[in-house]
Amino acid sequence: MIFVTSNTYKFKEAQQIMSIKLKQSHINVPEIQSDSITEIAAESARYAYEQLGEPCFVEDSGLFIHELHGFPGPYSKYVYYTIGLHGVLKIMAGKRNRGAEFRSAVAYVDSSGVKTFLGRAYGELAEEPRGSGGFGYDPIFIPLKNTKTFAEDPEYKNKVSHRQHALKQLADYLSIGEKPSKHL
Ligand code: IMP
Repeated sequence: MIFVTSNTYKFKEAQQIMSIKLKQSHINVPEIQSDSITEIAAESARYAYEQLGEPCFVEDSGLFIHELHGFPGPYSKYVYYTIGLHGVLKIMAGKRNRGAEFRSAVAYVDSSGVKTFLGRAYGELAEEPRGSGGFGYDPIFIPLKNTKTFAEDPEYKNKVSHRQHALKQLADYLSIGEKPSKHL
């Protein structure tokens, strides 16, 4: 199964989660501008299928901060590379509601069309970056029922992450299952 992504971290996580062998495709897929990560992923999947002519999936994801009405959401990558973690934490300084969620939209495509799956992970923002694992906003995201950030506990991340939830739905759809996860 081909996962079209240039993000090596995403690919690694997906391979740890899925039981079938994944192949990474680096083809350059344009991302449409939309408020919906599902729409973005679906369009990218259509484009990828046109290029590859083989079943494949793409993923679009982001961090949605509740107090900021979902910002940065679909613009997470841009915000990460502009103001970064410290910029986001600065905007959040003094705010009492630090609730946030990651969302992952996986779009699978084959000759019968595109099918999308949405996964979420709920938590809250840390006061400062902690941990060196993972990527992106992992150092400032503390999932529910844990005190460590995703970057401090990548193993836990793979069991509860937005990506895990979306990929599990894809695996169910394809009837291939995912890797059995250790007891939490
Ligand atoms: P895109 O899906 O390539 O548009 O990138 C989404 C951006 O959201 C990434 O560049 C990260 O900054 C952020 N992001 C998405 N998923 C995760 C995650 O699992 N951990 C941390 N940051 C993430």
